[in-house]
Amino acid sequence: MPVFFSTLIDIFIYLYMDKFFINGGNKLFGEIKMDCAKNAVLPILAGSILVEGVVCLKDVPIYKDVLSMIEILKNLGADVKWVGKNLYIDSFNICKNEISHQLASPVRSSIFTLGPILSRLGKAKVAYPGGCNIGLRPIDIHLFGLRELGCNINEKNGYIYAQKSKRKANAVSLRFPSVGATENIMMFACLFDGETKIYNPAKEPEIVDLAKFLNKCGAKIKGAGSDLIVINGVKKLNGVDYKPIYDRIECGTFLIAGAMTGGEIVLKNCNYNHNQVLIEKLKKSGCKIFCDKNKIALKSSKNLASYGTVETEVYPGFPTDLQSQMVSLATICKGTSFIFENLFESRFNFVGELIKMGCDIKCKSSVCIVNGKNKIFGADVVATDLRGGASLILAGLVAEGYTTISNIELVDRGYFAIENKLSTLGADIKRI
Ligand code: EPZ
Repeated sequence: MPVFFSTLIDIFIYLYMDKFFINGGNKLFGEIKMDCAKNAVLPILAGSILVEGVVCLKDVPIYKDVLSMIEILKNLGADVKWVGKNLYIDSFNICKNEISHQLASPVRSSIFTLGPILSRLGKAKVAYPGGCNIGLRPIDIHLFGLRELGCNINEKNGYIYAQKSKRKANAVSLRFPSVGATENIMMFACLFDGETKIYNPAKEPEIVDLAKFLNKCGAKIKGAGSDLIVINGVKKLNGVDYKPIYDRIECGTFLIAGAMTGGEIVLKNCNYNHNQVLIEKLKKSGCKIFCDKNKIALKSSKNLASYGTVETEVYPGFPTDLQSQMVSLATICKGTSFIFENLFESRFNFVGELIKMGCDIKCKSSVCIVNGKNKIFGADVVATDLRGGASLILAGLVAEGYTTISNIELVDRGYFAIENKLSTLGADIKRI
């Protein structure tokens, strides 16, 4: 457990208090700093398997998913330790190539280790991944890409059995720009002889950050963030110090919290370019937003108007990871809002919980129609997934009365001590 928990009580609170208790109605005011991005740290942790040396990741929050990935790396033979908020991973002695169901099933990012293990050790036996309950979440694109590059892959009894063999092709064209599949194939190709091209890759900022980390270790990756990524294999990657990018989804979540509560907040460690589409929607709802080099300031309006329509898309479109939070926002904006979820087939599971709070929401396959109301009410609700849980917190902040949210370990997967940041801004929220 990281050394910077000040007391045993802190550890107990973090690990065993499993509900949020919110007294709604406070406006948020003040300034907070964003943390490193969960979805940057997780693939980088997988990428550290490729490195014959010590990687130091700076300022890493204790996301529950990070703790799960650390267990996976340790099980493979890596030496992993926290020093303050810095995470040291030494993969020099990685020797095992198996990841059990017990280790793989808590997180989606376990599958991101398949490419690196294959590339480094030549063989892998990895159980199917888990992850948020927001759809089927197949891994066919991951396996297609590795097969295209010559790997023999069989799926049996809930495991993927894979073997690296001589190159079959120099290019992989993805049928869909899957974030995880792009990361898996890019990592596999780093130590794979010759040049590999990935067509139609994902372009998320977290892909660019993973490529930046790998190149700092000595990889030869060009074009991350564009329509074509070219990797020239190298013999070895060396240990580095690295600070992952800040979390654009955490930033978006807090911008929406500031908007919903009618407050005035400043978020530091934010990249305006990574949140442009959200900022346009919040301005349309009536918020005033000012952006500086790495700061975003938001001043909400008394009567928010509907932002109209949100359609989730791959980057740089509207991020699916802010979809749930936008549904919450819509519940208190004047007018009717339409939210289309185009990436995950069941990412509206949290809506039933919002309806318990008096929200006027109808869902039909991939669209959610929300009629804004002047008032919603506190209730006892259950987090259904990471971002769905965040949307319930946002609703609780503005609801009349008390809201308890259980199953909050799902929220802890991608937000570190979110209640502390919200309390700093004046929210009446505690972990009980
Ligand atoms: C990553 O998941 C993120 N997780 C998700 O964040 C994020 O929502 C998603 O990218 C999209 O941006 C991590 O980085 C750990 P995908 P990933 O592969 O890689 C289909 C959060 O809340 N697909 O881009 O799993 C898939 O079913 C989490 O932080 C296939 O069909 O996303 C989905 O419909 C949730 N076959 C779509 O592609 C595949 O082999 C996007 O999935 C892979 C994906």
